[in-house]
Amino acid sequence: SPQVIRDAAAMRAWSRELRRQGKTVGFVPTMGYLHEGHISLVKAAGEQCDVVAASIYVNPTQFSANEDFGVYPRSEAEDLRKLAEAGCAAVFMPAALYHPGSNGSGSAANAAMVVGASDAVDPEAHETWVSVERLSQGLCAKTRPHFFRGVCTVVTKLFHIVEPDAAFFGKKDYQQWRVIQRMVRDLDMAIDVVGMPICREADGLAMSSRNALLTPEDRQRCICISQALAAACEAAVAGTTSAAAELQRQVADAIAAGGGRVDYVEVVDARTLRPVEDVKGCEALIAVAAFYGKVRLIDNVDFTA
Ligand code: PAJ
Repeated sequence: SPQVIRDAAAMRAWSRELRRQGKTVGFVPTMGYLHEGHISLVKAAGEQCDVVAASIYVNPTQFSANEDFGVYPRSEAEDLRKLAEAGCAAVFMPAALYHPGSNGSGSAANAAMVVGASDAVDPEAHETWVSVERLSQGLCAKTRPHFFRGVCTVVTKLFHIVEPDAAFFGKKDYQQWRVIQRMVRDLDMAIDVVGMPICREADGLAMSSRNALLTPEDRQRCICISQALAAACEAAVAGTTSAAAELQRQVADAIAAGGGRVDYVEVVDARTLRPVEDVKGCEALIAVAAFYGKVRLIDNVDFTA
């Protein structure tokens, strides 16, 4: 089993000792309930670095009050077994990474803290944030405006604690990967940010810890997300449809017809994440978020047309 480390100083000491020995440390941050998508990152880290550390921490500051923080699935024992099998040497599992303040302790207090109200009440509460300004707007930030600030802040903290040489992110969360890449560049963090392909179920659904929260009916319905994306990508690459508005409409219609509630479907430049009018000759991304019941799923496809 990987060495379980719950203390930040002990985590840093572990990493520093290995780096002192001349070894490179690869890092995979996660929120647990691991599936093959996460494990593919651990394996890639193992191929590119001498040792691999992962983290499991359900970060309260990237959830807003009405989101699924409280029901986010957890499975510590299974996670440790999967990490061991994938060759992960250490896993950082902190109890809390934000100052809980004097009003209470643990995740519930942290979750309340981010809404802002308790900042005024509790002078000890965490008040330093990292945000990437432009790339953090649009797409997922439209319905989750708090999200990337929470991600960037916790990932910065994890980077400072683990001090890895390289960190591995999935392109399933494409905007997250681009945002972290930019944060590391802009703030001169000496970490190589590696983006890895999306792992999918046999029927095409992008693997996600949240898939476990779907009803059996919705689990069937949501297959049309990846199907619609694949069809749009095919049409764009074949040159049959290159107008962004047309691709957007096709994907949105297919998801709505399949019983999903579209949050957004956007056709953007894959680097800048800015909308494009036509994908011809462009490195493009079609990104989707859709609700099935209360479960919000995301998926995307990137291609050069
Ligand atoms: P989490 O959703 O647990 O995802 C951890 C990592 O696994 C992310 O880099 C994500 O993109 C990747 N991942 C998830 N599903 C994937 C799939 N189907 N194929 C490939 N990679 C996949 O993303 C987070 O946690 C958090 O925001 C975190 C970065 C840990 C900060 O709290």
